[in-house]
Amino acid sequence: MKSLFIVLDGGDGAGTTTHSRLLKGFLESKGLKVYLTQEPSQSKIGILIREFLKKKEIPPTTDALLFAADRDLHYKNEIKNKLEDGYIVISDRYLESSIVYQSVHSDKITIDWVKEINKFVGLPDITIILDIEPEIALARKGDEDLEKFEDPQILNKVRKLYLLRAKQEGYPTISSDDIIELVQEKIQKIIIEKLKTRS
Ligand code: TMP
Repeated sequence: MKSLFIVLDGGDGAGTTTHSRLLKGFLESKGLKVYLTQEPSQSKIGILIREFLKKKEIPPTTDALLFAADRDLHYKNEIKNKLEDGYIVISDRYLESSIVYQSVHSDKITIDWVKEINKFVGLPDITIILDIEPEIALARKGDEDLEKFEDPQILNKVRKLYLLRAKQEGYPTISSDDIIELVQEKIQKIIIEKLKTRS
């Protein structure tokens, strides 16, 4: 069986976690072997990043380097092995999150530099972008303790850049401002098509 590396990406509150889980269940119901993972990963670097997401005083370049290190470890020690074992790997966020968030976070950080520090990881077979208006996304979060990127100004820039990147790179984009079942159905259709071209 051939593997497939799927990424769901998008702004905070777009539902990448919910839809990654639903997609896993759907594919498993078809008898496929699925491995679900996420970034930041469960590694020590990923745990440190989660702490830093609550701290505004961490320099954006430190964040960018940590996300890249976490991804390097995540890909080489986890994702790659699962792909070699014939799994469909679904990652809730991946490289596109770094390209978008880290370049929006600081004028000094260019997309080219983010690509450069991430150049040793494998690329997904398909990246699907979930699009949501930041106001709706933040309303979904309610009164939770917000992380540093969960801010309307940042998320508006993040959204614009995701949409531009999707256009440039040809990533399928789905509005997640709809009922969950409908959004999931659209994701499943795209993946079913991708699986057909794979086999
Ligand atoms: P999550 O809340 O969706 O799990 O994502 C954690 C936050 O980390 C979210 O605001 C996006 C951000 N992030 C980056 O800034 N760069 C990255 O490379 C990744 C994976 C996430």
